Amino acid sequence: QNDDDQLIIDAGQKQFGATTCNSCGMLYSADSPEDNFQHTQFHQRFLDTIKFVGWKKERVVAEFWDGKIILVLPEDPKYATKKAEDVRRIADSELGFQQVNLSSPSAAKTYLFINSDKMVVGCLVAEPIRQAFRVLAQPEKPKDMTKEDFMDHHRAWCCSSVPEKAICGVSRIWVFSLMRRKSIATRLLDTVRGSFMYGSPLTKEEIAFSDPTPDGKLFATKYCGT
Ligand code: ACO
Ligand code: ZN
Repeated sequence: QNDDDQLIIDAGQKQFGATTCNSCGMLYSADSPEDNFQHTQFHQRFLDTIKFVGWKKERVVAEFWDGKIILVLPEDPKYATKKAEDVRRIADSELGFQQVNLSSPSAAKTYLFINSDKMVVGCLVAEPIRQAFRVLAQPEKPKDMTKEDFMDHHRAWCCSSVPEKAICGVSRIWVFSLMRRKSIATRLLDTVRGSFMYGSPLTKEEIAFSDPTPDGKLFATKYCGT
């Protein structure tokens, strides 16, 4: 991208007043009263939800210079499961999921990344599974494809039809928009692999992502090295 393009983009944003709030991360148009109202509605609720005051008993499963990961299990005290659920709702609404139902709520493990500012900036929900269908890397698009070729291609690209053995299914992974590309998702997954099954670390192949989004696919492809 050259400087001219950048200038045009900046000018466009000014004109329509597009702003990203640097505390809640919402993108909205400051010129629009409706957008401003929506932002005000969202802002405090969001920050309250990701605020983490600290608990008497925390299951800390990993510690880093810039934060820690805690694990919440379904049988934990209400304050812990409620926080896990509230953060999961935020992730769900960003992912466009309508339902908050998990496939096996009694076995779901929620991993929360807490940063040094006491905010939950990452969330991963892992559930035990038996099998999964591998997401295949996108092949180079050959020239002169017919529509039929394209459809076949597209289908083949999505998922393999051969079930493979997997142990841990990642049904949600979410990182706060202002904290992305700082290896938070990577560290959540590494921690899941090390702690999901007591005493036996999982390989990358034993982890499966359910219905990844485009962001999720890019991340998973990089993480799994496929
Ligand atoms: N575009 C391109 N590459 C990416 C992207 C992206 N958006 N995100 C991650 N990667 C790749 C990069 O190679 C990155 O390494 P780099 O930063 O050194 O280049 C590598 O993956 C590791 O990325 P992390 O920093 O560990 O990932 P992050 O903490 O940013 O979280 C996530 C990634 C969870 C996908 C985040 O973008 C997010 O929350 N997105 C919105 C919610 C979402 O789509 N979640 C996935 C849904 S799928 C599911 O839940 C099963
Ligand atoms: Zn805000």
